[in-house]
Amino acid sequence: MSSKKTSFVVAVVGATGAVGREMLRTLEERKFPVSRLVALASKRSAGQVLPFAGSEVVVAELGPKSFEGVDVALFSAGASVAREYGPVAAKSGAVVIDNSSAWRMDPEVPLVVPEVNMAAAESRPKGIIANPNCSTIQMVVALKPLHDAARVKHIVVSTYQATSGKGHAAVEDLLAQAKDVLAGKDVTPSVFPGQIAFNVLSDWKAGDMDYSEEEWKMVHETRKIMGDDAIGVSPTTVRVPVVNGHSESVHVQFHRPMSAEEAKRLLKGADGVVLMDEPYAPGKMPTPAKASGTDPVYVGRVRDDIAVKGALNLWIVADNLKKGAALNAVQIAEKLFVR
Ligand SMILES: NC(=O)c1ccc[n+]([C@@H]2O[C@H](COP(=O)([O-])OP(=O)(O)OC[C@H]3O[C@@H](n4cnc5c(N)ncnc54)[C@H](OP(=O)(O)O)[C@@H]3O)[C@@H](O)[C@H]2O)c1
Repeated sequence: MSSKKTSFVVAVVGATGAVGREMLRTLEERKFPVSRLVALASKRSAGQVLPFAGSEVVVAELGPKSFEGVDVALFSAGASVAREYGPVAAKSGAVVIDNSSAWRMDPEVPLVVPEVNMAAAESRPKGIIANPNCSTIQMVVALKPLHDAARVKHIVVSTYQATSGKGHAAVEDLLAQAKDVLAGKDVTPSVFPGQIAFNVLSDWKAGDMDYSEEEWKMVHETRKIMGDDAIGVSPTTVRVPVVNGHSESVHVQFHRPMSAEEAKRLLKGADGVVLMDEPYAPGKMPTPAKASGTDPVYVGRVRDDIAVKGALNLWIVADNLKKGAALNAVQIAEKLFVR
């Protein structure tokens, strides 16, 4: 931005949702200089009151005039809302940072993880910056220092994704189902396509070649963020009965051999990463329960692959609502406006 503003009008679109509420908490926690917060949602939630910065904000219904005077618009209201209102917000002068999949693969929209490719955010012809998918963000933050040293060739990733990744109502569904199972009753899913309590599911839409849309996001987004279309990604995405925090088992091969010892050296102190290097010590393995509510991407169980020489296996965990969504978006805004 050309002006020398020191505080900013920030709109959060989808403020009542799982990510939106985390946006408000993150802006407050990180003391983002907000002169006015505009909390927006659908008609359903208009008038609802949300806590913000020791006070309260009243949620307004999203509409064409919502963005007057707004400097930064943080969107987390799904793809159709982002497609319709992203350009409206950008046209009225706001920098849009969108959490949905709507704009991620648009060649004129940068897809940004600050630890990996912040420079890409400088060129935004549509006034829109896309926040990647939560599973992709935590994986590329962990792989970036290794990629810089030895260039990633092929990733095999299996995810263990929390229910909060599907929104607020999905967490309620898990908790209600868990009560029913414990009471010996049949479950009646309200959000998931089947039983998620005490079970695992693949609950995403089908994509090409029998891979889910979520799996294809990991393929395309990883290449775009890392700036390397030759990276091979073989993904399997799975939903687990965890409230919050995504985990990933990652096997990675490089263009030259990399040892676990070298990888640990590179990961120690890497931007956004906490290396947990005592895999069998009690409490020293990354877990979603511990990661939930915290900022870093935790990397543990860094091992030389037994079968493929020079390849590694890693276990990567992060809070999907924070680094996987709200925190990443606020960090982009900080880098553009504040630091
Ligand atoms: N959850 C994650 O870990 C995660 C991670 C990365 C990206 N994302 C993306 O972030 C977005 C939001 O996800 P979420 O998990 O926060 O979902 P959520 O809990 O279901 O919240 C959805 C939010 O969008 C609002 N909304 C829905 N339709 C709207 C409309 N027509 N006009 C205005 N507001 C509308 C809802 O407002 P009402 O209260 O009025 O319904 C609510 O505030 C999605 O695109 C998702 O893919 C989520």
